Amino acid sequence: MEKKKILFVCLGNICRSPSAEAVLKGMAQKAGIADQLEIDSAGLSDFHAGEQADKRMQEHAIKRGYHLTSISRPVNPMKDFDYFDMIIGMDDQNIRELERLAEGSSAISRIFKMTDFCHDCNKDEVPDPYYGGDEGFELVLDLLEQACQGLIDFLKSNP
Ligand code: 4NP
Repeated sequence: MEKKKILFVCLGNICRSPSAEAVLKGMAQKAGIADQLEIDSAGLSDFHAGEQADKRMQEHAIKRGYHLTSISRPVNPMKDFDYFDMIIGMDDQNIRELERLAEGSSAISRIFKMTDFCHDCNKDEVPDPYYGGDEGFELVLDLLEQACQGLIDFLKSNP
């Protein structure tokens, strides 16, 4: 069976989307579906291209057992919008920008918002933690864990 290819997207690709990548990889491993997925992340800016994930984000993630190993790269619409089956943004601004980049192409139908997969999140975005404190990073991980559980349920029922 062909792998389902999933791209997580945020602004900088150093906080939310690399965390989403690591959380889904970890949870898919536990759910026994890791070999069915190809998971990557990218940013809508190139501000941090070539950098490791934000140190604060790494420290919060490691406490929950997630190693953030990805290196920031910008979204490449020419390649990524053809290649990935699901393109998942973190907030409304990400979705607007992805939809603008995908305008007129079939990729529009493959754009999703992360919180759409939450069964019970009480939030409709994964907020940018970059300029805030510890609680913002914890909130990102709480929301990503809930959304990834919903995403795994979705993937199981839409193989
Ligand atoms: P991310 O967070 O989009 O979750 O990676 C941010 C990281 C950096 C910046 C903004 C958001 N920045 O403005 O540099």
